[in-house]
Amino acid sequence: MKQIEWNTLGFHYTETNSIVRCAFHGEWKNGQLAGDWDEPYLTTDKYLHLHVSATCLQYGQEAFEGLKVFRGADGQIRVFRWQANAARLKRSAEALKMAAPPEELFGKAMRMVVADNADYIPPYETGATLYLRPLLIGTTPRLGVGPGRDYELIIIPSPIGPYYPGKFHCTTFIINRHVDRAAALGTGQYKVGGNYAASFRATEAAHLQGYDCLFTDSKTHRYIDECSAANFIGIKVTGNKTEYLTPRSTAILPSITNDSLMTLARDKGYRVTRRHIRIEELADLQEAAACGTACVISPIDKVIDPDKGKTYCISRTPGPILTDLYHSLQDIQYGRADDRYGWCEII
Ligand SMILES: Cc1ncc(COP(=O)(O)O)c(C=O)c1O
Repeated sequence: MKQIEWNTLGFHYTETNSIVRCAFHGEWKNGQLAGDWDEPYLTTDKYLHLHVSATCLQYGQEAFEGLKVFRGADGQIRVFRWQANAARLKRSAEALKMAAPPEELFGKAMRMVVADNADYIPPYETGATLYLRPLLIGTTPRLGVGPGRDYELIIIPSPIGPYYPGKFHCTTFIINRHVDRAAALGTGQYKVGGNYAASFRATEAAHLQGYDCLFTDSKTHRYIDECSAANFIGIKVTGNKTEYLTPRSTAILPSITNDSLMTLARDKGYRVTRRHIRIEELADLQEAAACGTACVISPIDKVIDPDKGKTYCISRTPGPILTDLYHSLQDIQYGRADDRYGWCEII
């Protein structure tokens, strides 16, 4: 195991042994891209020799993923729901007219890079993990606007620190109706780099004020969409009934964490509802959070709506329902609880 200050690692890139790379070469015929993937290979070289006119640089043919590898309480190495990431990368690739790596290839490349970087999987007690960043880029040199015929899948590993090094805590969000992250029928539901660049104007403005940014739907700006890199969850308790609410929108990324939490919530007997959520409904929530691979759950204490001069105070400290869901998911990821849905691959 590497001598790394695991406890002080943040969500930053740390150099590891190797990355894995795999190229595709094809031809377009009658609107279909046909070709073959080479065998994946490991390399210590973290730089690409890329043509300046590559379609990823010129026209944004780029998609990526993010998933975690955990060293469990039992010492076993678990990769969480990588097949779901492979499937989402396939959807993103198809949306940008890129070649989609087959699941078996994704899995093979993932296992190769995890094995070669096993020394960088943080010890169990630290709460740190090995983050994997699969990346798919278009490499064909092109000046005419259109998709290329050559692609490359790369998986970059990096240990990352625990999201909550101290205490599980709340964050305040601010609504921005003046910048849209993605169009209603655009690429918001795909994990493509352009969505993130498009969100920076809003997220950086929010960070300067000490907040995170909550995006509303780009068509009406009346409904909650998502955060820049996380889905939104609200918890509504009425009498002895608990409802797990999450937005339905064509412009948000289908979060694998949210999907997992919805499954756990149903198991706990909560009603799970995915629907349009009006901004004013924040007033009816007892708990709220952002959810995603990096944080699992990031509870929200307040949401500020500057255009309407309103602040929705939700919960000063992380609430019991979301705290319990957070622990239930982490228990599966760290092998402390039965993996009853077969979410983890032990490697
Ligand atoms: C825009 C966006 N929404 C939601 C998520 C959460 O998705 P997941 O739970 O699959 O990490 C992410 C992170 O991947 C994201 O970038």
